[in-house]
Amino acid sequence: GQQTQLTEVAGILLQTSTVGNWSQIQNFEAKPDDLLICTYPKSGTTWIQEIVDMIEQNGDVEKCQRALIQHRHPFIEWARPPQPSGVEKAKAMPSPRILRTHLPTHLLPPSFWESNCKFLYVARNAKDCMVSYYHFQRMNQKLPDPGTWDDYFETFINGKVAWGSWFDHVRGWWEMKDRYQILFLFYEDIKKDPKHEIQKVMQFMGKNLDETVLDKIVQETSFEKMKENPMTNRSTIPKSILDQSISPFMRKGTVGDWKNHFTVAQNEMFDEIYRKKMEGTSINFCMEL
Ligand code: A3P
Repeated sequence: GQQTQLTEVAGILLQTSTVGNWSQIQNFEAKPDDLLICTYPKSGTTWIQEIVDMIEQNGDVEKCQRALIQHRHPFIEWARPPQPSGVEKAKAMPSPRILRTHLPTHLLPPSFWESNCKFLYVARNAKDCMVSYYHFQRMNQKLPDPGTWDDYFETFINGKVAWGSWFDHVRGWWEMKDRYQILFLFYEDIKKDPKHEIQKVMQFMGKNLDETVLDKIVQETSFEKMKENPMTNRSTIPKSILDQSISPFMRKGTVGDWKNHFTVAQNEMFDEIYRKKMEGTSINFCMEL
């Protein structure tokens, strides 16, 4: 059955199990050599995770698969007892650790800021993100039913989705980017020139891989390859959690699918809301390739 498993913390909806583990999460001890992958949901988390993994493993696909099986970059706010929480998994990991989060800046465990570790943020344009999240909520049985597209349009704009408002999330991280070690990337840029963006990640991670390895990473992290890869397409997750017959996890992987969903009126309304909510920021998104 469909259950609404979201609870509000500081005005933001999070999974109820996460909220149940809130003090452990807030007391998380970050280390200076941690790398935290940060994204708003549906912005390319799985993609950047695979890229980072391939760089870490020097392009060795098999090692990468093994690493994924072992830890999959613990998601710090993940809690689903009796399985070990993200915090517990992270604690058990050797350093340097690669961790993940969808938390907005104001809910991040404070030790991350104090540790001065590295952050890798990936942002995706709001319209494609909304479309992707809509289809994800249709197939994810642990999240509320999104209702119709028109219903969801309101829900998303009002930030009444898990991990809160896209606008606040992206603004918050964008505003932090010059104060901390944050590599701020865009989904659209990775799509347009994967090699260039992968190279930036490599440099940020303090790695130096040769051209052939880089080319291999570009190939192995393409949408087509990742859609076929059981470690990245989530086909190992039971249908009772992710029902891929409704919508595949690796759905389209494109820029501009919003054009197939937004009506002209919705698009105008959205642009107006976007202008107001993002007023004063210098961030700029590519809406089509
Ligand atoms: P779509 O639903 O638009 O297809 P996350 O991993 O943060 O949940 O994001 C999922 C989105 O990233 C999905 O978008 C998915 O298809 C896309 N994605 C995953 N791997 C990708 C890749 N290698 N190239 C392009 N898009 C990718």
